[in-house]
Amino acid sequence: MTTESKKGMFQDEFSESKMSNTEIINKRRVINGYDDGLMQVSPLKHPWAYDLFEKMIKNNWVPQEVSMQADVDMWKSDSELTPQEREVYQRSLAFVSNLDGLQTNNLACNIIRHITSPEVTLAVVRQTYEEALHVQSYATMIEALSLEPEEVYGLYRSDQNLYEKNQEVLKATSKIASPTFETGTFEHDQMFLEACVGNIILEGIYFYSAFLIFYVLKRNNKMPGSAEMIQFINRDEDMHLRLFIHITNAIKEEQPELWTEAFQQRIRDNVKASVELEYSWGASCLADGILGLTPDKLREYLQFTGDNRLQAIGLEKEWNSENPFPWIDQFTQGNMIEVNFFEGTVREYQTGSLEW
Ligand SMILES: [Fe+2]
Ligand SMILES: [Fe+2]
Repeated sequence: MTTESKKGMFQDEFSESKMSNTEIINKRRVINGYDDGLMQVSPLKHPWAYDLFEKMIKNNWVPQEVSMQADVDMWKSDSELTPQEREVYQRSLAFVSNLDGLQTNNLACNIIRHITSPEVTLAVVRQTYEEALHVQSYATMIEALSLEPEEVYGLYRSDQNLYEKNQEVLKATSKIASPTFETGTFEHDQMFLEACVGNIILEGIYFYSAFLIFYVLKRNNKMPGSAEMIQFINRDEDMHLRLFIHITNAIKEEQPELWTEAFQQRIRDNVKASVELEYSWGASCLADGILGLTPDKLREYLQFTGDNRLQAIGLEKEWNSENPFPWIDQFTQGNMIEVNFFEGTVREYQTGSLEW
């Protein structure tokens, strides 16, 4: 790539022959573009990024708005939750809290500095803030239920399955984590693109299976506050997923040479490995199943989700599995205010409401 791929070109630009604004916008690319570092977002080259940025702002919410009282009462009671339900809840909370912590750092340290489209930077910065909000949400849940932080954040130190899973997730993000890593060569650009798909896997496969656990509990009238918190988080993650699908597809379009047959196979293998990894983790949580959620159904759901992610980036389906939990749509899609999903918690303003 050219030397123009460096961010912060402002200092080199004072000359009679400097580019016009139109030329600057035309040269704009998600990575390896011209970027003076001054965030000139009008006009836009990547309108989808600005659109998502605005949607994310409209989805504003804070974890303090969610009532955890019913969950506190259930958690304290001896009869409301089985020991296995408690274990599944706590392990799921441990995993999502680890994932969001990791993702906050991944975006801030590994991703943003390579983006050369200011509107895409805006969206990823907003995403990073939302990941921090999720970190705060889990802390709110841990504190409300008086859980031992070591048994949630530190569970991976005593739970081998979780340790191995975290390791794998970290491996996917660590390829571009070196502070000396730069985009601008074929190999490095492929690594960056692979990391973008890593984000799709993280946002769109790993999180989705953990969310499922909270929704299964809620569907059985267990831990409703936690499920509401997760719905807010899920709505955010859905935006993040869309953002990285756009980022991936835009890089593919701008640098089609990266999308080789061998690279497509690598991406497919990564998606397949993540579905398997998530399955083994889920199966270790579920044993024979809880509340109708069995390992077999979980596998089908993960495959269905994996197929969706493959298709979103222009690859063929791998499994052709059906969604065994069609009811999940009521938690993840549509206007939940209209269907009066949260009895008694309807809010009259968009901020902090679950209107998608
Ligand atoms: Fe998150
Ligand atoms: Fe996210």
